[in-house]
Amino acid sequence: MTKNPPEKETIQPLFDAIAPVYDFLNHFLSFGIDTYWRNQIISTLLLTPNDIILDAACGTGALSHRLLKKYSHVPFSLTGVDFSEKMIDHAMKTIHDKRATFIQGDVETLPFEELTFHHVMIAFGVRNLENLSKGLHEMYRVLKKEGTIHILEFSVPPNGLWRRLFHFYFHKILPPLGKWISGHSHAYTYLPKSVEHFLPLKEFTALLTNTGFHSVTIHAMTGGVCTLYVAQK
Ligand SMILES: C[S@@+](CC[C@H](N)C(=O)[O-])C[C@H]1O[C@@H](n2cnc3c(N)ncnc32)[C@H](O)[C@@H]1O
Repeated sequence: MTKNPPEKETIQPLFDAIAPVYDFLNHFLSFGIDTYWRNQIISTLLLTPNDIILDAACGTGALSHRLLKKYSHVPFSLTGVDFSEKMIDHAMKTIHDKRATFIQGDVETLPFEELTFHHVMIAFGVRNLENLSKGLHEMYRVLKKEGTIHILEFSVPPNGLWRRLFHFYFHKILPPLGKWISGHSHAYTYLPKSVEHFLPLKEFTALLTNTGFHSVTIHAMTGGVCTLYVAQK
């Protein structure tokens, strides 16, 4: 299991605090590459009319926004869930699309019936779950039979030189920059720690399989800085 899993009591106020600057900082600190990563996860989601989608740990709704934009003429329904009230407020204020609903809730105890969704997507969320196994079981439970899960998460690059550069940027550049812009002292020291404490690729894949998912595909992006997992119920 994840080393030193994050505690909800610490994480929830942290995300509440950075919600107003979250989108800007995402683009700025990733040099805009986050848009490419989000487009990649969206491209794996084969939407058909009237599908029901869950955006788990949706934050400000950045991923939902891209999906709604890509399928602007397709009827489907989307629910975004996040336990940070400020993130949900931001999503509701910025996304005005009748197909989308945003609610405050916990991914580890999802407020939905089983077999509700055709697809579940979660971007940069699994690393933040206090009980990862519980969260994965919940997302599995609410998926319809043969539904798919699409997971985007940071990972540690396997290549030595690239990994050293990644460590340098994540530990030395990103925390002071993040602190300076967000005014929050812990958020951007938490980010590199949480990435390093997250399960290595093989262990995370095994956890997906143990949860019940099959046909897991893995796609490393940007030299392994970010990994996209797609699996089926
Ligand atoms: C790094 S942000 C990612 C947000 C968004 N998915 C994106 O792509 O920008 C992680 C989000 O996970 C949420 N989160 C963490 N643990 C959660 C939980 N147990 N239930 C619901 N949301 C959670 C946080 O509030 C935060 O908004």
